[in-house]
Amino acid sequence: MTNFTYYNPVKIVFGKGMIAELKELIPSDVKVMLIYGGGSIKKNGVYDQVRRALSGHALTEFGGIGPNPRYETCMNAAAQAKAEGVGFLLAVGGGSVLDATKFIAVATVYDAGDPWGIMEGRKPVKAALPLGSVLTLPATGSEMNTFAVISRDSTNEKLAFSSPLIAPRFSVLDPETTYSLPTKQVENGIVDTFVHVMEQYMCAVGSAPLTERQAEAVLQTLIEEAPKVRQHPDDYDVRANLMWCATTALNGSLGCGVEAQDWATHMIGHELTALYGIDHGRTLAMIMPAVHRHQLARKQARLAQCAARVWGLMQGDEEARAAQAIDKMESFFHSVGVPTRLSDYGIDAVEAGHQVASRLAKRGIKIGEFGDLGEKEVREIVALAK
Ligand code: NZQ
Ligand code: ZN
Repeated sequence: MTNFTYYNPVKIVFGKGMIAELKELIPSDVKVMLIYGGGSIKKNGVYDQVRRALSGHALTEFGGIGPNPRYETCMNAAAQAKAEGVGFLLAVGGGSVLDATKFIAVATVYDAGDPWGIMEGRKPVKAALPLGSVLTLPATGSEMNTFAVISRDSTNEKLAFSSPLIAPRFSVLDPETTYSLPTKQVENGIVDTFVHVMEQYMCAVGSAPLTERQAEAVLQTLIEEAPKVRQHPDDYDVRANLMWCATTALNGSLGCGVEAQDWATHMIGHELTALYGIDHGRTLAMIMPAVHRHQLARKQARLAQCAARVWGLMQGDEEARAAQAIDKMESFFHSVGVPTRLSDYGIDAVEAGHQVASRLAKRGIKIGEFGDLGEKEVREIVALAK
C-alpha cells in the first residue's frame, strides 16, 4: 500500500424526499443560481421540488446546459452570475450540469483573463463560488469529487480539470429522481460507473488489499443490480444501489493506497466523444476491453484476480483467466445494452485510431498507469475496438 492523503468534504444527503433539505443546506443570505440542463427536471417534478425547498431564498436560474457541457454556454452563465451578484450555485441534473456548474463557479470569480487556460493546465484555480448539487443521473461521480470535464466548440476539445475549490458543499441524491431517465442514460451510467472502478483497480502494479476488495464490491453490486433495473425500473432499492455505486466509484476512496491508476480508457474516450459525439459511457464500453487486451501481459495478475473474485472464474492458468475476465466484462456491457465496437457506430477503427492518437500526441500526452502509451500504442488500442 502506498502513502495517501484522503479528504472528501462533500456532504451526501441521500434518500427519497431529501430535496426538501435544500432549505437548510444553502445559506439564506446569498442569491442562489439554479443551473440545469435541457429541461428533464421540469418534466419529472424535480424542478418544482427544488423551487419549493428554496421558496425562502433569493433565486435566479440558468437553463440549457447540454450534454458534454460547452465552455461557451458556461461563460454565458458566469456572466449572468456576476451581473446578478450570485453567491451560491446549485446544479440540478446529471454530470454535465454538475461539471458545468463547477467551471461556472471558477469562471464567475476569475480575474486573470480567459479561464480556458485552466482547462489547458496553464493557469491555476485560485477561487470559486460555493456550489451544491441535486443529482439526477448516477454515472460520473462528479457529485462527490473535484473533477469537471468541459468541451469547447471553437477548438473541438474536451478537457478535464480538478481543484479542491470545486468540491460541492453537498450533494442531494434522491434515487426517485432517476425513475425518469431514458434507458440509454441508465445504461451509460452503469458502464461509466463500472469503468471508473476499473480505471483505479485494474493496474499492473501495487497492492492495496482492502481498497481492491472495496472496488470488487462495487463491481459485484453493479453486476447484480444491472439486470434488475431493466426488469424493474421502478424498484426504489435497485435505483438507490446504482446511485450509491456511481458515487462511491469516483469519490476518491477507491484510489486510497493504490500505487497507480490507469485512465487510458477515459483519455481515449473523451477524444472519441469530441470527434464523433458518442456518449461518454458508450466510448468507454468500446475502449476498455481494447486497453485490457492490448495490455494483457502487464495486467494479467490483476485481471486473473478479477476473474476469480468478481466473475467466479477459477479454471485455466493465469493468462486464460485474465483473458476470460475481459470477455466477461465485454459481455456484461452487451447485457446492459451498450455496444462495444466502433463498427457498431459505423466508424472505421483504424482511421479513428489515427485521429485520436495524433490529437493526444499533439498535446504531448502519454497515457496508462505507467504513462508510456504513446501515439503508436493508442492507434493499436483503438484499432482493437474495430
Ligand atoms: O439536460 P437534461 O434535460 O437534464 O437531460 C439529460 C441529458 O440529456 C438527461 N437526464 C439527466 N437526468 C435525467 C435525465 N433525463 C431524465 N430524467 C433524469 N433524471 O440525461 C442526458 C445526459 O446527461 P449528462 O449529464 O450529460 O450525463 P452524465 O451524467 O453521464 O454526464 C456526462 C458528462 O460527465 C463527464 C463526461 O465526460 C460528460 O461530459 N464526466 C465527468 C466526470 C467527473 N466530473 O468526475 C467523470 C466522468 O468520467 C466523465 O468524464
Ligand atoms: Zn467516466
